[in-house]
Amino acid sequence: QRPILRLLSCPGTVAEDLRRDERPSGSVETGFEDKIPKKRFSEMQNERREQAQRTVLIRCPEKFSENKFLKYLSQHGPINNHFFYESFGLYAVVEFCQKESVVSLQNGTHTPSMAMETAIPFRSRFLSLKLKNQTSERSCIQSSDQLPPSNRKLFELLCYAESIDDQLNTLLKEFQLTEENTKLRYLTCSLIEDIAAAYFPDCIVRPFGSSVNTFGKLGCDLDMFLDLDETRNLSTHKTSGNFLTEFQVKNVPSERIATQKILSVIGECLDHFGPGCVGVQKILNARCPLVRFSHQASGFQCDLTTNNRIALTSSELLYIYGTLDSRVRALVFGIRCWARAHSLTSSIPGAWITNFSLTMMVIFFLQRRSPPILPTLDSLKTLADAEDKCIIEGNNCTFVRDLNRIKPSGNTEALELLLKEFFEYFGNFAFNKNSINIRQGREQNKPDSSPLYIQNPFETSLNISKNVSQSQLQKFVDLAQESAWILQQEDTDRPSVSSHQPWGLAAILLPSVPNRRSLTKKKRKRSANERVKNLLESLKSNRTANFTETNEK
Ligand code: CTP
Ligand code: MG
Repeated sequence: QRPILRLLSCPGTVAEDLRRDERPSGSVETGFEDKIPKKRFSEMQNERREQAQRTVLIRCPEKFSENKFLKYLSQHGPINNHFFYESFGLYAVVEFCQKESVVSLQNGTHTPSMAMETAIPFRSRFLSLKLKNQTSERSCIQSSDQLPPSNRKLFELLCYAESIDDQLNTLLKEFQLTEENTKLRYLTCSLIEDIAAAYFPDCIVRPFGSSVNTFGKLGCDLDMFLDLDETRNLSTHKTSGNFLTEFQVKNVPSERIATQKILSVIGECLDHFGPGCVGVQKILNARCPLVRFSHQASGFQCDLTTNNRIALTSSELLYIYGTLDSRVRALVFGIRCWARAHSLTSSIPGAWITNFSLTMMVIFFLQRRSPPILPTLDSLKTLADAEDKCIIEGNNCTFVRDLNRIKPSGNTEALELLLKEFFEYFGNFAFNKNSINIRQGREQNKPDSSPLYIQNPFETSLNISKNVSQSQLQKFVDLAQESAWILQQEDTDRPSVSSHQPWGLAAILLPSVPNRRSLTKKKRKRSANERVKNLLESLKSNRTANFTETNEK
């Protein structure tokens, strides 16, 4: 029987614009939001990595039959699951039950011959489906959304919600990474690992940061860690009798230079041979050297680092905090979206607050509640057992890894209250003299004059928000005060749902009214009713439109 379909392996091709303004239609609900993982971080990472190794990424033609496609692929072995998504074309992510099926499939593929260009032969798990005979058949393919809803839709959802708690949970549900998006992130790391393995056969490329710490929003970047520990460990404990043999290696003067050299060759490799890797930039002089590139097929902006194990550990810590109590993620997503809506955060590096810093602020705030909603890092350290002991570059990174050993909080405060109190708390925080410290869960004197000081939980002499300028901090404080005020006013005079007025979370996501920004305490004493009336009038007229435009960019 002749195969109906042929698969070609994809060599790196021309750059396309990665930005997508429109959300593809035909979204599917995944239910991922109900399955907040309770697994250990390492277990979750290992399972997902193993899944990704049994998976292929296939670019599909415009018209084809899904049934025949799956039937053809099943010749190589049973398929565990698959899904489609759009990113300048239709792609399929197909997970086989066994790794051998991938090899069998690859053996049946060949490199395309091109008229105008020459393909550099490189065997990857990124394939392209070519039909022998054109078909007019187009099965009704459901594609999974990889982007959050438009702000217009979000805004509607928020206005129709029943309470601020409901609004925060809606925001979380709409913005959190879906099961499919998470799979695509692990698959992308696995594809990059195949390329890096050309130099370092035992390397592992692990995702870290918001892709895995439970705080990732659809569309967030993909942080990757090139883990060379296996390669390092191969050369230890290999002794035989009186002789000790070692691998011969090249030495360089420092760890930093080693990191730069490794990333430099991997960067070249991605640039020259990496299918779908475009816009490769080697940023080797940064404090933490990295290779930045776009993975065209998945649409992810990727940052690849190595020798950055502490960041992986801080991702694990955030994963624990995000999984312990369902209010944590809802509040963090609310604050992250609020900060983005007011341009307090940006995708461009600069003097702004980062999402990582905001998350630390929320965690700190939740540690300060009475009774605390989240435990301090020091108390997670006291719960640790021998297996959890971890020292990285002289820094103590020990904390309990098993979530089931942490006692749930007795605090039952509603999200609505927490949101208001968050703004109150940071609107009045003594940033000029105090630092934020999630290890001890209490303010401490700032060790230097940085406007915002958030102690790095593991490298305790570092400030994770060192980049933040006084004016950006002031903007954060002003907006926090303003949002606290809006929410407080609403307590007495909330617009009814039927009036279609933005209220609660929707109201504080709207751009600030300039003359409200410089409110002094005295001015705030003006008639609350008059102010709310003016505010609602202006919201009604043009700011709803503004909000949707600004935030859709
Ligand atoms: N990180 C750190 N210290 C910093 C900045 C970052 O330890 N000053 C680590 C954190 O573990 C962080 C990860 O690097 O989660 C990735 O950084 P970044 O991409 O800036 O933040 P994310 O948490 O991934 O958030 P975003 O969704 O904005 O990418
Ligand atoms: Mg990130």
